[in-house]
Amino acid sequence: MKAVEIKPDIYWVGAIDWAIRDFHGYVTPNGTSYNNYLILDDQITLLDTVKYDFADVTIDNIKGLVDPARIKNIIINHIENDHVTSIEKIMALTPHATIYITEKGRKGLDRFFDISKWDIKIVKSGDSLNIGKRNLLFLETPMLHWPDSMMTYVKEDKLLISQDGFGQHLASAGRFDDEFISSSSESALEDAVKDYYANILMPFGTLIKSKIAEIQKLGLEIDMIAPDHGIIWRQDPGKIINMYLDMANGKADLRVVIIYDTIWHSTEQMTLPLLQGIKDEGVDVKVIKLRASPISDAVKEFWKARGCLIGSPTLNNSLFPTVAEFLTYLKGLRPKNRMIGAFGSYGWAGGAVRDAYEEFRKMGLELSEPGMQVLYRPAPEDNQRCYEFGADFAKKVKEYHARFE
Ligand code: FEO
Repeated sequence: MKAVEIKPDIYWVGAIDWAIRDFHGYVTPNGTSYNNYLILDDQITLLDTVKYDFADVTIDNIKGLVDPARIKNIIINHIENDHVTSIEKIMALTPHATIYITEKGRKGLDRFFDISKWDIKIVKSGDSLNIGKRNLLFLETPMLHWPDSMMTYVKEDKLLISQDGFGQHLASAGRFDDEFISSSSESALEDAVKDYYANILMPFGTLIKSKIAEIQKLGLEIDMIAPDHGIIWRQDPGKIINMYLDMANGKADLRVVIIYDTIWHSTEQMTLPLLQGIKDEGVDVKVIKLRASPISDAVKEFWKARGCLIGSPTLNNSLFPTVAEFLTYLKGLRPKNRMIGAFGSYGWAGGAVRDAYEEFRKMGLELSEPGMQVLYRPAPEDNQRCYEFGADFAKKVKEYHARFE
């Protein structure tokens, strides 16, 4: 896709990755984009690059606007591979450009490239760069989501180039929120935002709140937010800021998600009366089988719901491997403000439910105890116990949810 003007003389020059389905383990059914931006001012300035595979795409987009040799400044907001691995190819075309980057970014860049011949200037929060008619303000955002991360604010255009922040893994022909909504839907866009936040930014809610507060305190007027993935927020940039604040503050839907796996369908059978018990308490419920769903989808659904029941059969006195994998991934995301419980079948000895609760305790989630176990295969009385267990869990989730209203 060729360059798109997003503001007068400011262009998206990135690449759309329609085919990617595995983004370092995160399943991306809708592909993604690698967004970078070119400002045509007295000093031509490139903000970010793209993944190596798409270096020629962004270079062609730049060439459609200007000779790359004329680029004077390159801002690197984030050094993860999907944004920086085409830097060598670009620097070969404009070897005298100056790179602006945080100190931690420079250290990381040095581990990936021979930077000895590059002119690199270190910037920190509050530093600015005049490029002619415009002034760029740098805002460090360490751990959002890497130590090197920063954002760049283009003052005269009220434009925030936000690197990974406020992004989504979406490949689309439309570059803007309003275009995406008109060709798809607002709920699809919101779902993509939640998916991205859950899988990448969930651990950093406190930092997100303080960084947004810092931006608000600076009084920066923002009428467009341009992230390095997905669509650009021009119709309603306040929407994405409010969504981030809501998620950072623990907002969730009054819903229970049952996330399980099964060996000979006994644990699976338990989900049916559980679901009915939850539903009969008036709480929405969703069921996800781990071997039938990407782990990143399961995390998204966990994040959207206030309550979660984890189902695992006992295998070798412990958790079924896909459930253990899911809990390990979830623990790393440091979830908060969610209620959790466990259930599962066992044969000659249990262990899965016990071990699930051990993992829950390490995460510091709100526990619903005890869990629910069934020997071998659910009998009619077990189905009734599961129904009551589900209904009781739903009641607890409703009470817990009320704390956040
Ligand atoms: Fe899109 Fe942290 O890279």
